[in-house]
Amino acid sequence: MSNIPSERDSFGSRFGVIAATAGSAIGLGNIWRFPYVAGENGGAAFLIIYLGFVLLIGIPVMLSEFTIGRSAQRNVFGSFRKLAPGRPWYLIGIMGVVAAFMILAFYTAVAGWTLEYIFQSIINGFEGLSSGQLNDMYFSFIGSPWRPLLWFFVFMSFTALIIMSGVQKGIEKYTKILMPVLLLLLIVLVVRAVTLPGASGGISFLFKPDFSKITTSTILEALGQAFFSLSIGMGTLVTYGSYIQKKDNLGSTAVSVAFADTFIAILAGLAIFPAVFAFNIEPGSGEGLVYITLPNIFQQMPGGYFFSLMFFILLGVAALTSTISVLEVIVAFFVEELRLGRKAATLLATSSVSILGVMCVLSTSSMADVKLFGFTVFGLMNFTSANILLPLGGFFIVIFVAWYYGREKAGNELSNGGKLKTRYLPFYMFVIKYMAPLAIAFIFLQGVGLIKL
Ligand code: PHE
Repeated sequence: MSNIPSERDSFGSRFGVIAATAGSAIGLGNIWRFPYVAGENGGAAFLIIYLGFVLLIGIPVMLSEFTIGRSAQRNVFGSFRKLAPGRPWYLIGIMGVVAAFMILAFYTAVAGWTLEYIFQSIINGFEGLSSGQLNDMYFSFIGSPWRPLLWFFVFMSFTALIIMSGVQKGIEKYTKILMPVLLLLLIVLVVRAVTLPGASGGISFLFKPDFSKITTSTILEALGQAFFSLSIGMGTLVTYGSYIQKKDNLGSTAVSVAFADTFIAILAGLAIFPAVFAFNIEPGSGEGLVYITLPNIFQQMPGGYFFSLMFFILLGVAALTSTISVLEVIVAFFVEELRLGRKAATLLATSSVSILGVMCVLSTSSMADVKLFGFTVFGLMNFTSANILLPLGGFFIVIFVAWYYGREKAGNELSNGGKLKTRYLPFYMFVIKYMAPLAIAFIFLQGVGLIKL
């Protein structure tokens, strides 16, 4: 660890690294975004393509981010500047910070909804409501400006407080306990959902592929979802990688995190789609899917009050372990590049993100008619970050490691200076040199309609 400057924070233990990184990856992306994006894009066929992308593109990009961050020991911008002095690669870092702004803005809006649902669980607000009434409840909540705004600021403040106090002693400690509890609870929900009358339609929707539903835009959505869910393509994992100790194994960390993340997304799908079919909800009904279906399930189970409360608290926690990782990208950048103190950097970051955040929150109410490229502000941030900025970031990140940083240095970092076996190295190099960049470029250009085959 000789080259870690003493003032730089680092993760305490190997389990801490996994908890923090999996904490970043697992969040609303798995439980809120995955089900509705899969629902809109045909279900099982989408899932298969998604899994392929996690394996062949996601894990290699993740490894590349870890390699860059741990070699450079800097924030995402500083890492590229340090590893490629005088070259324009730092632009990838700037793009990452911009993506972090966009993601934090709309993500915190959705995370705020979780707080409303915790509140409703406490006051037993779902009790006795029909499926249609739960639907109305969701739309009237997001359709009014004040409550969502309030929850947005509450959530943003939690994120800021944790980041101000450093990561290791706060979130790392609690996520180690809370993430396993979330997993258990999700399993309970899956059991309830798959045993609902009419659940089988949901199971086949998720597992029986109908490839006729696949279009070029679906493929781009699957790629974007893989990037978003794994927290890759914008430097979160460069930043977290810079806190990983030199003795830890980057390869096995990446594989465990990708596996855990995917497993949770599939479980979320298994909790939601059976309920979607059992309660006659449209699988493609968009961002409200989880917030409408889950209260329906809670109503149908003994102890629903307790489970609902627990679930939304844990969803909030899962979201929080992700928002802090996004905020950390910006704060590490401000601290190391603008030489601000950690507190000042956090305040500057959260207040500027909040301007965009407020517009995202109001996208479902007062600003619903404000459309840019056919999207609300919320929709634009959600779509552009996942489907454009992250794949583009991932493209340049793998190109950087493969063609600039090079096999020797990358191999040295991945093997901890020759101490670990890295038999996967030749395959990894091949993937990041040719396969991943070609695939990303091709899917991206097709998805946005720039090439047509
Ligand atoms: N991966 C997180 C989730 O699935 C979201 C996220 C995206 C976090 C990008 C960091 C960076 O909820």
